[in-house]
Amino acid sequence: MMHLRIVYGVKIMPIQTSPVRAAVIGLGWPGMQHLKGYIADARAEVVAVCDLDETHAQHIAAEHKIPHVYTNHLEMLEARHIDAVSVCLPNFLHAPMTIDALNAGKHVLCEKPPACSAAEAQAMADAASQNGKTLMYALVQRFGGNTQRLKQLIDAGELGDVYFGKAGYVRRRGIPIGKEGWFVDKARAGGGALIDIGVHALDCVWWLMGSPKPVEIMGAAYSHFGHLVPDNVKYDVDDATFAQIHFQNGATIVLETTWALNLPGDNYIKVAGTKAGASLSPFTLYIEENGKEVDKPLDAPAINSFDEEVKHFVECLVEGKVPISSAEQGVILMQMLDGIYASAAKGSSVHIQT
Ligand SMILES: NC(=O)c1ccc[n+]([C@@H]2O[C@H](COP(=O)([O-])OP(=O)(O)OC[C@H]3O[C@@H](n4cnc5c(N)ncnc54)[C@H](O)[C@@H]3O)[C@@H](O)[C@H]2O)c1
Repeated sequence: MMHLRIVYGVKIMPIQTSPVRAAVIGLGWPGMQHLKGYIADARAEVVAVCDLDETHAQHIAAEHKIPHVYTNHLEMLEARHIDAVSVCLPNFLHAPMTIDALNAGKHVLCEKPPACSAAEAQAMADAASQNGKTLMYALVQRFGGNTQRLKQLIDAGELGDVYFGKAGYVRRRGIPIGKEGWFVDKARAGGGALIDIGVHALDCVWWLMGSPKPVEIMGAAYSHFGHLVPDNVKYDVDDATFAQIHFQNGATIVLETTWALNLPGDNYIKVAGTKAGASLSPFTLYIEENGKEVDKPLDAPAINSFDEEVKHFVECLVEGKVPISSAEQGVILMQMLDGIYASAAKGSSVHIQT
């Protein structure tokens, strides 16, 4: 059956028949979540895996009855039996591998962060558009049950005009190092706590607030915990970053994110509007009723957010929809991260144009 791709309401080209024949590049923990997500979706099948570690890739392929195993992504991309690729690789490989896949005519679901910089994310968006392929970012927090429910409430106007968001992903101690220390090497990760986990918190609160256009950013970044990684590991990234972002519509986001901080760990998303406010955890609506402050517990079905994320990607391909975490949104998200780092380096606020 032929499906049509719809961009901003305009049908422009055929997109993808089902089952979508998917491949996963990079079989670490996130790669395995993508793989399980495709397996859980009847409209998709996993036809290939690719990892530098051939023994691991062979093992995963045997366990899940996946017919093709590659150790070289370019060889894999030549295969005509692959429609879509999940890029689950270290950050510095997101842009080149995604662009290779798009140029080879594959749709791409790329792990977070979108890239190491907004310039890379723009090149990825350009490659998607030039090749007429879908590029979606795996921003998994958007796909949690509570997040989806809160987004429905906000879009239905239950909170009024949402003008303030507060997001935190704070670890007291929790510096990832990764294979060959890539997580803590700026050249390969693009940054530290902010680009690794702050990106989840910022993206989630920004999306809930309707993805407004950022105009001015004040950021501060610190690196005080390099002594926690082995001596032979290069450590030149932020382990604590704080920011305030102002948007064209007048809204503000305050963000805190750390891999190491001498305070208790915390993980929260809060939004406030003219009619009500809400928090994801505890999942609560904060309102005023008859002049009294009332905290109303909210609920949402327990769902596997990774399965939901992959399901959305597959659905976008077979139903011709634009992903909620689109290539264009990836560029703006990276502009905000670049802006926070630029402001922190400069010691004053920076203005950005999206
Ligand atoms: N969404 C989430 O919750 C989440 C969680 C962890 C990591 N991530 C993201 O996922 C990505 C991967 O993280 P990770 O922790 O799995 O990293 P990792 O260092 O464990 O690497 C993942 C896999 O990629 C393989 N690999 C590396 N270079 C390759 C190449 N050139 N070709 C083929 N395979 C190659 C490695 O052998 C490894 O098995 C990162 O961008 C990270 O930010 C997301």
